Amino acid sequence: MTNQVKIFDTTLRDGEQALSASLSAKDKLQIALALERLGVDIIEAGFPVSSPGDFASVQMIAQQVKNATVCGLARAVKADIDACGQALQVAEQFRIHTFIATSDIHVNAKLRKSQDEVVEMAVAAVKHACRYTDDVEFSCEDAGRTHIDYLCRMVEAAIDAGASTINIPDTVGYTTPTEFGGIITQLFERVPNIDKATISVHCHNDLGLAVANSLAAVEAGARQVESTINGIGERAGNCALEEIAMILQTRQSMLGLSTNINATEISRTSKLVSQLCNMPVQANKAVVGANAFSHSSGIHQDGVLKAQNTYEIMTPESVGINKNNLNLTSRSGRHVIRHRLQELGYSDTDYDLEAIYTSFVQLADTKGTVYDYDLEALLFFDKQKHESAFYKLSYLQATSGHEIIPSATVRLQVGDTLVTRSATGNGPVNAAYEAIMDILGHQDIEIVDFTLDSKGEGADALAQVSVIAQYKNRRFHGRGLATDIVEAGVNALIYVLNNTHVADQIDQHRQQQDSVAGIK
Ligand code: KIV
Ligand code: ZN
Repeated sequence: MTNQVKIFDTTLRDGEQALSASLSAKDKLQIALALERLGVDIIEAGFPVSSPGDFASVQMIAQQVKNATVCGLARAVKADIDACGQALQVAEQFRIHTFIATSDIHVNAKLRKSQDEVVEMAVAAVKHACRYTDDVEFSCEDAGRTHIDYLCRMVEAAIDAGASTINIPDTVGYTTPTEFGGIITQLFERVPNIDKATISVHCHNDLGLAVANSLAAVEAGARQVESTINGIGERAGNCALEEIAMILQTRQSMLGLSTNINATEISRTSKLVSQLCNMPVQANKAVVGANAFSHSSGIHQDGVLKAQNTYEIMTPESVGINKNNLNLTSRSGRHVIRHRLQELGYSDTDYDLEAIYTSFVQLADTKGTVYDYDLEALLFFDKQKHESAFYKLSYLQATSGHEIIPSATVRLQVGDTLVTRSATGNGPVNAAYEAIMDILGHQDIEIVDFTLDSKGEGADALAQVSVIAQYKNRRFHGRGLATDIVEAGVNALIYVLNNTHVADQIDQHRQQQDSVAGIK
């Protein structure tokens, strides 16, 4: 058996389905490219049949990712598998992941089918997926609570039908490490054709055991772990990719296993996912939490100063945390910015130097000193200012104070036209939002969440605003950054508007295609 454990990332599928607002196609692509740099073997990019937007983003990721297998999820039904095959066929390497529930509780209460019927559906689904690719993964949903005899029967049938990866999910995070490792051991002992497939695991974290269960499964012979960045996912989330990868790396001499993960990309990928998904990482989170490498007690600090390994089992540098914070000012030239970004792990193709430099100079003029975290924030936010945005901020003036009525004037570029409106509100942000809603002709957009945070340290830190808005039964997340709180809020709303505009365009395109095909 190989010593190589494949890392399957499902941040964009299991992770994304648990967010309070869906990610835009652009954000998903940015995450997929970061996962590719991180070295994951398989990227589950989405569930193509679930919406035209998901189909389009899976297809876009399949087109752009070259060094990882791109995968799509499908229930064990023909239409789902066809949507997956069609979205993925542009990829260099792709996988179809089809699943059906196998526990009594799911088979009886949810599927309302007999066990034989469920086996038949699984076999038909795997065979149908094999018409598109040899790389077919089959999952027994709720395997953790499935009777072992039936699980063995299902796994054998799916391998016979052509599945090359069999995934054993602990869908509800119910099992314990000894129990879950035991299930994997039994599969190896009892399924006659088990050597024809890679055994994978997909553990949820309802009892805080997702990583421990995945590790127990790997020790029992599983050679693929499904995981997400920062452990995001349904309910309490999934196995955290950074944790399982660092366990396998840090304890390699004991476990004798390795992965293709480039650990120095971990911190950057974690920050990107946290930022784009609007999911903060708890400070004491293993590997990527803000305190994961900080020592508070005097005894610990003294120990680390004498020898780092007294209290550190891995170094911050090994997961890409760079403690060197160089201060940049408006006098720093383009080559210094480029050099600094290189040191932070960004290559020239990750950003547009001219655009970043312009934003950098503007920020340095307002703020004086620009730190690494400011530069990284600019990099995140630079992407949203791309030229093709339909809505752009052209002018903003807001007034507020004690005993005056807050008011704002906003000028937006809407396509090719400039539109200006003024409004009052209960504060300057609310006034600016009212002016924007007036520009939009009071479209049906409802702001359901507005969060203001600071990016960086001290009173001159950048303001970062996250907005969640409801539009046509979907939630959109936008974020904005500026030294001015009102401007950050306006940028966040404009970000949302550009995403709703793209979603409308995708829906229109799909409707046109359907009407050409004669589908009502
Ligand atoms: O948790 C689960 O069972 C899943 C499957 C679709 C793999 O996410
Ligand atoms: Zn799951």
